[in-house]
Amino acid sequence: MEPLRDSFGRTHTYVRVSVTDRCNFRCVYCMPEEGLDWMQRSDLLSYEEIARLVGVFASMGVTGVRLTGGEPLVRKDLECLVAELGQIPGIDDLAMTTNAHRLAACAQELADAGLTRINVSLDSLDPERFSAMTRGGRLDKVLAGLDAAIAAGLSPIKINCVVLEGENDEELYDLVEFFGARPGHFVLRFIEYMPFQARWHTSVPSAELRARLSAVYSLNLATEGIGQGPARDWVIKENGLRIGFISPLSNNFCSSCNRLRLMANGHLRTCLSDDGTPSLRDILRGGASDSELEQAIRDLVMGKRKSHEALIDGGTPFEGVMTRVGG
Ligand code: 5AD
Ligand code: SF4
Repeated sequence: MEPLRDSFGRTHTYVRVSVTDRCNFRCVYCMPEEGLDWMQRSDLLSYEEIARLVGVFASMGVTGVRLTGGEPLVRKDLECLVAELGQIPGIDDLAMTTNAHRLAACAQELADAGLTRINVSLDSLDPERFSAMTRGGRLDKVLAGLDAAIAAGLSPIKINCVVLEGENDEELYDLVEFFGARPGHFVLRFIEYMPFQARWHTSVPSAELRARLSAVYSLNLATEGIGQGPARDWVIKENGLRIGFISPLSNNFCSSCNRLRLMANGHLRTCLSDDGTPSLRDILRGGASDSELEQAIRDLVMGKRKSHEALIDGGTPFEGVMTRVGG
């Protein structure tokens, strides 16, 4: 099998699949308050089309798939897609990133369908701040979703926390204490805010977060990783909680990037920063064979950018909006 390589020699083994650009939240760092056009239903890849494309990716050495959105659970019958993807030979890691607001009702069903892991976005443990940051989300529903996911065997759950200077950064210790009470079930990851289109918030560099934590806890570098991601993991000696820092700006990991993003409308976003790539959907709907799809994917991946150019407090913002991309 010929691996899926780009012109910089990076091999791609991981595809993030956005199933919808819609979300039941409007997190302040992800979407503007109003004025976003949603994709039309007919523009979205069907589950059959997604499964066909993932099959083609798998034939080129892709082993991991992560479902994202928007919010994946706002699309109907997601467990049907999970079940289909789980049957594709070569796909051995089938994960989802969700805000967990609707997870309590379907965690077991998703696990039964073959979902192996979840990441949950959670930026505050204060109900009012949570509601403000998500523009309407209810923290209690998310916490119920986490419990349901644990009961369904989907732990350890990675908690993604985007830290914004002066907004939720004071909750650092509360988050560590809360998730550290059940260290076997959670990994807590702090993500640097990435500016899309414009910088609405202030990012906190990972090194600064680590220094703030080190003032209170002993942090030991973790030996082995979980999953295929870019986080550097540490273990908090006092409670055994594993934490990670994702530093797209202060320590960009582009040189080892192994991922591709299939957007809900079929555009293959080869680099998170590049909103200009063409759609595989039109090729697929034009009647392409699997080997024609494979060639189209290889050509797109060959054109992948070397790196994004956003910096911790400047540079070029990412193109587009996060809700179309799914992280
Ligand atoms: N910067 C950093 N992380 C972001 N996410 C969404 N928007 C941004 C941004 N601008 C996170 C979400 C989710 C993950 C997929 O991406 O919190 O956990
Ligand atoms: Fe929705 Fe996630 Fe964006 Fe929040 S960050 S608005 S939960 S897609």
